[in-house]
Amino acid sequence: MITQKTINEVMNTAKVEEVVSDFINLKRRGVNMIGNCPFHDEKTPSFTVSPSKNIYKCFGCGKGGDPVRFIMDHEKLSFPEAIKFLASKYRIEIEETENTAEEIQQKQVTDSLYIVNEYARDYYENVLFNRAEGKAIGLSYFKERGFRESTIKKFQLGYATEERDEFTRKAIEKKFNIDHLHSLGLTTKSDADFFRARVIFPIHNISGKVVALAGRTLSSDKKQPKYINSPESEIYNKRSVLYGLYFAKEQIRKEDECILVEGYTDVITLHQGNISNVVASSGTSLTKEQIKLIKRYTPNIKIIYDGDPAGIKAALRGLDLILESDMNVKLVLLPDGHDPDSFLAAKGTEEFLSFLKKNEEDFVFFKTRILLGEVENDPIRKTIVIRDIVGSIARIPDNFKRALYVKQCSTMLELSESMLNNEVNKVVKSELKSKIDSSHQKDQTSQTGNEEEWLNAKQILSENGPMLVLNDAWQEKTICDIIINYGHLWYDETENTTIADFILDNTLDLLTYFDVEMYKKILVSVSDFRLSGSKTSHSWFTSHADDEIREFAISALSTPYVYASWEKREMFLQTQKMPDENYIRDATNAILRLQLKKSKKVIDELKHFFDNAKPEDIETEEYILNLKVLQVVQNQRNELAAKLGTVIY
Ligand code: CTP
Ligand code: MN
Repeated sequence: MITQKTINEVMNTAKVEEVVSDFINLKRRGVNMIGNCPFHDEKTPSFTVSPSKNIYKCFGCGKGGDPVRFIMDHEKLSFPEAIKFLASKYRIEIEETENTAEEIQQKQVTDSLYIVNEYARDYYENVLFNRAEGKAIGLSYFKERGFRESTIKKFQLGYATEERDEFTRKAIEKKFNIDHLHSLGLTTKSDADFFRARVIFPIHNISGKVVALAGRTLSSDKKQPKYINSPESEIYNKRSVLYGLYFAKEQIRKEDECILVEGYTDVITLHQGNISNVVASSGTSLTKEQIKLIKRYTPNIKIIYDGDPAGIKAALRGLDLILESDMNVKLVLLPDGHDPDSFLAAKGTEEFLSFLKKNEEDFVFFKTRILLGEVENDPIRKTIVIRDIVGSIARIPDNFKRALYVKQCSTMLELSESMLNNEVNKVVKSELKSKIDSSHQKDQTSQTGNEEEWLNAKQILSENGPMLVLNDAWQEKTICDIIINYGHLWYDETENTTIADFILDNTLDLLTYFDVEMYKKILVSVSDFRLSGSKTSHSWFTSHADDEIREFAISALSTPYVYASWEKREMFLQTQKMPDENYIRDATNAILRLQLKKSKKVIDELKHFFDNAKPEDIETEEYILNLKVLQVVQNQRNELAAKLGTVIY
């Protein structure tokens, strides 16, 4: 393992602008530098490098990080590999510690499991292409299905013959360990081959290693399961694998959307048809772990279902999970009897894509429509449906989004908006309350100094509903108020920096922590516009193409500026009467406040991470990075608090 000392040295030496400009052209803009993002297609540059903070951030696709992260993402390297890469760039000598015997053994076991699976993959692939039975049965089956040879090779498909134990015998001849064959499920307890007379689909993890195999029978015997899959093993946890993700991840990021289908063959056919942002959950409903995987690349999921009503209904409930994780979910129903594979084969790529475009429907509306279709004027059934929909909407973390759904669904359900809203809020509040209560109990000992704030929060909660207390909507709104009102004015004319630039420079790397999607949207939009070199103006906002932004801007410009009110509530600085001349101070304070709030979030997130870490996590790159981040953020938080004259609890 690389020593912490070397890691620190690399991290302290590597300069983000030097590292990035080895790969892309950067131009100076104010204190930052910009260029075309290497992680997604763009014409106007939104990839921003901040030498002072030693980070980069793309405001188009959201990728960002420090120099090490850049190398990991750009060169597709692991953390230690990226450290080595940068060490060689900066001629830093690498110090490595010896691994413990136990670590070495563990690593050897997983390594050899991968090697065994790779052997199996190659074995079955070879049978498919080079053996008479493989060619006559397996290969001709794939070709009949329309798979091209290049596609078959890309997905590393194979064929297992009918023989009882040919694979196992050959593997043992090659000195593979029988225990490994057993634990990977390639060989049965009675030492027969697990896969027999089946075509083989290797299942890859995110870095392309084979973690499992699936075998499809070609027989029409109904007693045979259509697919059999490797059992779970030390290297295969089926909840956290998505079939095809390894091949799809780059395109998912580029398209900013992930298409989810049900079957292996759907994934393969779509890839072959040049639709390669597609993965499959392999016949089960989507798990939390899989959602998290997708979220690494995009917040947008489009699920394609074959039009079988029973399956759809069963799947709908599972999808609430996706709402909870603040993803945008769309569904498309294919015409009856089609799955994505057969539909694409029948229609061709162009028609397939335009069908998706025409027929995609937001998940919540889709669910409402499907469930309502079964109510048939039965009031009790309708009540059950309403409860179900209310439950779904209540899971959406974003307030604005929730409000939008309430509005639309109330029309669909023929209910008054306020009634539906009440029901949703009841659920939100009760869930929130139980969350707060339990966390309050847990924190009681450490939070005694905070009792007043706690009571305050409870008070506001009961008056305004949960939103004001638990999120940072107010701070985010203030920032947007200021950027709309004063963004075009100079912060520092000699530096060519406007108030908007100043705010953007200090808030953009916090965007992922924003609670309110719309405020995030406003900042991103201003940032894009500034990158084109133009200054915002009141009229730019009030004629904005985005309805939400325009409406918010209009109200921000027309309501009197009330920035000081929350400061007052938090007991500092009350007497500034002329906000028009104080926008620099206001912007500064608003940013500090926001940063303070958000740093708390980052710290909480990290603490949660460390609380849940297992001893074996301690050496992982994530753990090491998080430790470093925690230290940095805690220092920043103390500095912020000192500047604001605030006590942190
Ligand atoms: N599946 C499974 N075990 C089964 C049946 C299905 O694991 N016994 C999973 C597989 O991942 C399969 C997916 O569910 O890909 C969808 O099943 P299905 O639509 O029946 O299969 P297809 O992938 O469409 O296969 P084909 O087109 O060859 O019929
Ligand atoms: Mn199919």
